[in-house]
Amino acid sequence: MSLLVAGAHQVATPRGRSAVHGPALDHLTVLDGAVVRCEEGRIVFIGDPAEHERRFPPADDVLDADAGCVIPGFVDPHTHPVWAGSRESEFNRRLRGEGYMEIAAAGGGINATVRATRAASAEALLAGTLSRLDTFLRHGTTTLEGKSGYGLDLDTEVRMLEVLGSAHEAHPVDIVPTCLAAHEVPLEHRDDPELWVRRLVDEIHPEIARRGLAEAVDAFCETGVFDLEQTRRLLADASRHGWRIHLHADELTPLGGAELAVSLGAASADHLVHVTDDGIAALAASSTVAILLPGTSFFLRSRWAPARRMVEAGCTVALATDFNPGSCPTESMPAVLTLACLAMGLTVEEALTAATLNAAAALDRADRIGSLEEGKAADLVVLAGPTYHHLVYHWGVNPVRHVVKAGRVVVRDGELTP
Ligand code: NIG
Ligand code: FE
Repeated sequence: MSLLVAGAHQVATPRGRSAVHGPALDHLTVLDGAVVRCEEGRIVFIGDPAEHERRFPPADDVLDADAGCVIPGFVDPHTHPVWAGSRESEFNRRLRGEGYMEIAAAGGGINATVRATRAASAEALLAGTLSRLDTFLRHGTTTLEGKSGYGLDLDTEVRMLEVLGSAHEAHPVDIVPTCLAAHEVPLEHRDDPELWVRRLVDEIHPEIARRGLAEAVDAFCETGVFDLEQTRRLLADASRHGWRIHLHADELTPLGGAELAVSLGAASADHLVHVTDDGIAALAASSTVAILLPGTSFFLRSRWAPARRMVEAGCTVALATDFNPGSCPTESMPAVLTLACLAMGLTVEEALTAATLNAAAALDRADRIGSLEEGKAADLVVLAGPTYHHLVYHWGVNPVRHVVKAGRVVVRDGELTP
């Protein structure tokens, strides 16, 4: 099965099979009028239409880009897409002055979603997840990392990870599963959080690893959740389980999560709103990807991660939605890119690289996805506008016209194909 994406005004993409940092983040390859040929799910040619015609037979199917811009499918490397219930009432409470952690301490927050998720069947969780994946896909995301973490007991954490596995099978969006059983201290362990840490290390993580339900592990290292020493214990044996490490680090307070992530050899340190100069230096000298989540800063009306300083220091910066029901309920990577540019000062080129190639690197997939190159997966987005700037310039609406996943048209004119 072959597909030709033709009629684009331009094809814009970062290039490479590993993460880029520093000035390289700002460099896109832009090919005017290029066509993209996909065969058996991979890209086999990008370039001049006349050369394509000389070298290849007519394709089985042609997607007319209609003077739009072709970019790689987004890789969203930090999402929490499985949950039940909803928390829209917290929005107004925050507007009236309550803090995110205050609401959590008063019975809202993560533990409110835990209550609803524990009570939900696998079928209900899967239905909710699939419908959210539809929205991700319509906004151009073709691969995402999905975390558990609204179970906080073995049964529900297993159920969430199984739902991620089923959703991966059933839906065009590829899901990379992460165990985040260390998302919070569940209410039943509030009088003895240490016991919860021990249960995570001794029972829950090993059982999830034994069942092969996750590729990576994550923890919420934060004042009032897990401190540095507990987080180190939670994550230190990740490699014994064959897991990559991601870490919610320096999100609400400057705890030193970035430095800890680097010392553990983590694949990523995420959030980093309160990262210190030492944390930036540690990240810059490491291969740990700094995943920034400007949607969460926007939604919680907090500070912005110092993205500009991080790029200039040489950190490998990536972008993600943090999609979740509490601190950032949006599936839209284009919205995240607009915030990354307007509020954090990234250039459009840096933001696009961060949301594709570097995001893929955080998930250890930069050799397969994250850029448009011969040999890589045929995961691409056709924007309605003629240049990649339209991604952030035409803001507050969905700039995505068509989406191709593994060489198949999965969104056409903004609608999912059957
Ligand atoms: O990344 N920080 C912890 N986890 C999420 C929020 C989850 C929630 O509020 O439900 C985050 O912001
Ligand atoms: Fe998160």
